[in-house]
Amino acid sequence: MTSITEIAPNVHRISVLMPEINLQFNHFLVVDDEPLLYHTGMRRMFPDVLEAVKRIIDPATLRWIGFSHFEVDECGSLNDWLKVAPHAQAVSGIVGSLVNLNDFADRPPRALNTDEVFSTGQFRFKYRPTPHLPHGWDAGVLFEETQKVLFCSDLFTHNGDVEPITESEILSRARQSLVDFQAGPLMDYMPYTPKTRSLLEGLAALKPKTLATMHGSSYTGDCAKALLELDGIMKEMLG
Ligand SMILES: [Fe+2]
Ligand SMILES: [Fe+2]
Repeated sequence: MTSITEIAPNVHRISVLMPEINLQFNHFLVVDDEPLLYHTGMRRMFPDVLEAVKRIIDPATLRWIGFSHFEVDECGSLNDWLKVAPHAQAVSGIVGSLVNLNDFADRPPRALNTDEVFSTGQFRFKYRPTPHLPHGWDAGVLFEETQKVLFCSDLFTHNGDVEPITESEILSRARQSLVDFQAGPLMDYMPYTPKTRSLLEGLAALKPKTLATMHGSSYTGDCAKALLELDGIMKEMLG
């Protein structure tokens, strides 16, 4: 149930399908001088994600572990990774570090300011806080500036055993999944706040070329347009 796809040069998508909820959980390994893993995965997925990482690099060489917000699919196995990778460090925003990681992580995290950029070698990652987008006070995203890959967490979530990356629009799928969530016990997955539009406009202004989504296909194409259209869908469904 685990598959690996290189969605951009040196950006590997490690996808684990959870058939009982028909949902993919995607973890992204960025291979560089200082390898970075975005989304640790749940604790129970750790053996599968670790095996997948081993097919690409020696996990002990991992240096950075990033994610959007404190939730088990984002960072549940953080401490398992810190054990297998002795030089690895969680990288998060100020809020995430102060509120969760300074206590939760077995080693101190690196806390990033708004739009702070750090380099892993050939790649440069910018941190952008996005409070309550998709959800969580501590939410944020990483944007890799050289290849313009936006690691956008739960934004554009859609169900299904879908293709790793697509150039076809993913908004209608994301809208359908939101309709389904709103009709069941997972309703109000994301809030629509007075700041949602401006946060999405800010991400669109980065002009991403690829959206690395946690649940569903990654997308390559006019990502700025997709982000602005996502605002309309969220407003309609959740506003
Ligand atoms: Fe989430
Ligand atoms: Fe998620």
